Amino acid sequence: MSTINRQLRLKTRPEGAVRREDFDLVEAPLPEPGDGEALVRVQYLSMDPTNRVWLRDIPQYMPPVAVGEVMRAWGIGRVVASKSARFAVGDLVQGLLGWRDYALLRDERAHDYVKLPADPGLPLPTLLGACGPSGMTAYYGLTDIAPVQPGETLVVSAAAGSVGSIAGQIGKIHGARVVGIAGGADKCRHLVDELGFDVAVDYKADDWKQQLDRATPDGIQVNFENVGGEIMRAVLSRMSIGGRVALCGMIAQYNSEQRPADDFSVAIRKRLSIRGFLILDYKRGREAAQALGGWLREGKLKAEETVADGLENAPETLNRLFDGSHRGKLVLRVDPTA
Ligand SMILES: NC(=O)c1ccc[n+]([C@@H]2O[C@H](COP(=O)([O-])OP(=O)(O)OC[C@H]3O[C@@H](n4cnc5c(N)ncnc54)[C@H](OP(=O)(O)O)[C@@H]3O)[C@@H](O)[C@H]2O)c1
Repeated sequence: MSTINRQLRLKTRPEGAVRREDFDLVEAPLPEPGDGEALVRVQYLSMDPTNRVWLRDIPQYMPPVAVGEVMRAWGIGRVVASKSARFAVGDLVQGLLGWRDYALLRDERAHDYVKLPADPGLPLPTLLGACGPSGMTAYYGLTDIAPVQPGETLVVSAAAGSVGSIAGQIGKIHGARVVGIAGGADKCRHLVDELGFDVAVDYKADDWKQQLDRATPDGIQVNFENVGGEIMRAVLSRMSIGGRVALCGMIAQYNSEQRPADDFSVAIRKRLSIRGFLILDYKRGREAAQALGGWLREGKLKAEETVADGLENAPETLNRLFDGSHRGKLVLRVDPTA
């Protein structure tokens, strides 16, 4: 085992896309677990759009990452040393491990971490994606926030990404007609040919609004919204009266200092129900994991991951969520042996 614990600490708050220079790569000594502590080797880190929000000093659902602090991030790791009553050597854990090689878990915070089965039966990146927080977000959005009914038209934005690709497939499982919005012809082809979406709209094409009109001749009953901005405005304008929106994310504005001017008059005109939600409010992880795992095993759900390598590449990897150069769940392999 290494005696060094590399970690990326926030140096300066990024403006726009994050840069490597916004972080200090610090080589700290590897900590020894004390009583009630366990040392975890970080294996994979989840790259999440919300990571970018955590870097901004704005009101949000968690405190922003402070300058000097290790970058906060969700991940999966394995316990390599333990004086803990809760975590034994060899345990696989999931939780906020941070941009570092090793994390120290404390028993009094054990409830912040999910202990995974010794042999989870799925690749670890899938446990961060389709059968992890991304898949669960899609599941809660379409079963609780805006349940979709057979025959309804569901529109999903950022549809080739981690949450969106699962939301669209859950829509199909529930018998909906599913329209995905994604950037580029390749992603759109993938949605229809590989994931079973009914139609895909390429928002990078000049005629994308006409594509959306053609794709939704009977209006839109449910919108699973991941992007916000112009895409959300176009979708809301095509909603049916009484339509429901699961407002999951607004990635179009995470890299921007500008706050868009809001015009919600469409919600009145169309009597829309628009409900924002956060996965961290849900305590039904077991139910969601069972449903998602079952669909994966039955072949009704396809999981996809894009794997990047190297802790030092975390800032550039995070940017891939914003330039669209990935498909499915984007993860960073921190432990080369994982
Ligand atoms: N509410 C919750 O609890 C919760 C939990 C997890 C995630 N989320 C939200 O869910 C959304 C998707 O997250 P994810 O982890 O699944 O990421 P992801 O979809 O795998 O990656 C983000 C995707 O967004 C698209 N995108 C980025 N900037 C865009 C822009 N300006 N306009 C249009 N599309 C853009 C890109 O796809 P293209 O190539 O198609 O442009 C990119 O692949 C985010 O808004 C995130 O904040 C919410």
